[in-house]
Amino acid sequence: MIDDVGAPDIHRVTRRSAGPDESAHANRVWWEHAADEYQAEHGSFLRDTGFVWGPEGVEEADLGLLGPVEELRGARVLELGCGAGQCSRWLRAQGVAQVVGIDVSRRQLQHARRIDEETGLRVPATQADVQRLPFASGAFDLVCSAFGGLPFVPDARAALAEAARVLRPGGRLVFSVSHPMRWCFPDDPGERGLTAEQSYFDRRAYVEENGAGSAVYVEHHHTFGDWIRAIAGAGLVLHDLAEPEWPEHNPETWGGWSPLRGRLFPGTAVFSAAKP
Ligand SMILES: C[S@@+](CC[C@H](N)C(=O)[O-])C[C@H]1O[C@@H](n2cnc3c(N)ncnc32)[C@H](O)[C@@H]1O
Repeated sequence: MIDDVGAPDIHRVTRRSAGPDESAHANRVWWEHAADEYQAEHGSFLRDTGFVWGPEGVEEADLGLLGPVEELRGARVLELGCGAGQCSRWLRAQGVAQVVGIDVSRRQLQHARRIDEETGLRVPATQADVQRLPFASGAFDLVCSAFGGLPFVPDARAALAEAARVLRPGGRLVFSVSHPMRWCFPDDPGERGLTAEQSYFDRRAYVEENGAGSAVYVEHHHTFGDWIRAIAGAGLVLHDLAEPEWPEHNPETWGGWSPLRGRLFPGTAVFSAAKP
């Protein structure tokens, strides 16, 4: 799939609508080219075997949103937008035998293979779009995701319905995304990022376009209400919602996320839902 992908060539940044196919294509192109830099810049923060929910650096070991590890050991787990597989590898290290990942970017999955070789902890993963999962209905006990795929979909309800489809009754979906209130502020880690400039209610996607007007990066905004309606609309029941606070021990800036902003407002939302 990488063969038809030219390097993203950004001419314009705008807010406009972008459909499911345009969004997935743009983000595949973008992540194919961004993967090396992303892993070089953030790999040590994420750790080869680490389950970090977001740029705050808050970990699954701190939040316990997936439930007690002993209860996960026999579970069939799917990670959406697994990137280089750090979260899945952490689950494997806890003794969870059946973990698989999907990601739209082949280059991200190549990094997963590299780290598998280096650590000896292998995570089977395949290239797929979170909006169309190549798995049978009811195949998993747990679907999880740390900023993987879901921040990039236009139709949150359809994407969550697809995640719900592959869960067995009683299974759980736990995922993190950018905290919706971030969309009011410029994506700037400094003082400028503290003043609201955009409407929270503006659902148009953030789109980077090339000279021909085609999207080369797309990120979608869903308000808190939108996510909760998407969870309910997908037939799931919301059990928990974590808004991790910026830990004192994390001095690192990640894009627009910073200790300065993290002291004042949340940057990540982690939703935990179950299929009745
Ligand atoms: C911010 S990274 C998160 C990856 C990993 N969870 C981590 O913490 O590094 C977002 C990931 O979502 C993937 N992605 C973007 N759009 C996707 C889609 N439609 N389907 C599946 N994966 C997608 C990207 O390729 C990228 O690996």
